Amino acid sequence: MKVTIVGAGNVGATCADVISYRGIASEVVLLDIKEGFAEGKAMDIMQCATTTGFNTKVSGVTNDYSKTANSDVVVITSGIPRKPGMTREELIGINAGIVKSVAENILKFSPNTIIVVVSNPMDTMTYLTLKATGLPKNRIIGMGGALDSSRFKYYLSKALNNHSNDVQGMVIGGHGDTTMIPLTRLASYNGLPVSQFLSQEEMDKVAADTMVGGATLTGLLGTSAWYAPGASVAYLVDSILNDQKRMIPCSVMLEGEYGQTDICMGVPCIIGKNGLEEIVDIKLNDAEKALFAKSADAVRAMNGDLKAVLA
Ligand code: NAI
Ligand code: 2OP
Repeated sequence: MKVTIVGAGNVGATCADVISYRGIASEVVLLDIKEGFAEGKAMDIMQCATTTGFNTKVSGVTNDYSKTANSDVVVITSGIPRKPGMTREELIGINAGIVKSVAENILKFSPNTIIVVVSNPMDTMTYLTLKATGLPKNRIIGMGGALDSSRFKYYLSKALNNHSNDVQGMVIGGHGDTTMIPLTRLASYNGLPVSQFLSQEEMDKVAADTMVGGATLTGLLGTSAWYAPGASVAYLVDSILNDQKRMIPCSVMLEGEYGQTDICMGVPCIIGKNGLEEIVDIKLNDAEKALFAKSADAVRAMNGDLKAVLA
């Protein structure tokens, strides 16, 4: 199984690293626009093979899409972060141009691939990729909910003073500080509602910490995070390549689900060899439904900034 990762930066290279040491794919191609950068990252990862013991072949290329041919999954992490003084519209304009041209180049050599979109603003970039390529919705999946959910479980486990592997929980909605929705009501600790162990105030703090989880790390690191984002992408790719049919919150095109149409947002999805195989309908309560509608308004407003790129 072959995976291409476009963008060999922090998230892309970490994803390649996790995919290789966990043996998720037999081949990983890292592609970057920066001369020699992907080649260097791939060589560094390959020099772990004998010490960590993996057999995945990782290679790097500078903008040569022919080397990505026949990829089963392509991950798009290419883009730039927001710089001081830059408006959101400018950032969207630049990243949208990059993501659109990357998707077009990829499809020339891997017409049947499934595309995982990571570049921010991720829900809008996923929507753009779908509109620009015209691919069926099962083949375009935005990664954000897997990461936000792993942060949610981290903060829940800290509040419970227990191991995060004993905790279950999901974050749906947009992948943004104000648009994501940690589903605290449905979170559980070994099958028991977390409300049995945490006060409302503690649960509210977990939700608030989760929502600014990315911003907290950006403040600490000076750039956005990469270990958990890279591992979350690898987790999603594993479910596709190995047909695990895991339920993972992903940004996918909604056609009436959760009361929304013509928008990509995070909802629980069954992810398998066909990419998106099913959208799971959770019975949200009225407060959660209102939050989802508000989140959709914000994501839709951002999609409005794509007009020039999609014209
Ligand atoms: P980075 O700056 O470390 O890496 C980005 C890479 O993309 C750079 O190496 C750059 O040379 C490359 N690139 C730029 N234009 C390109 C093009 N046209 N073709 C090929 N490569 C190109 O950034 P990082 O930290 O890896 O983040 C990547 C993206 O992922 C950002 O947009 C970031 O906001 C987003 N992100 C999304 C997350 C999510 O949950 N959806 C989580 C973390 C980051
Ligand atoms: C994150 O959540 C910025 O999307 C990036 O870490």
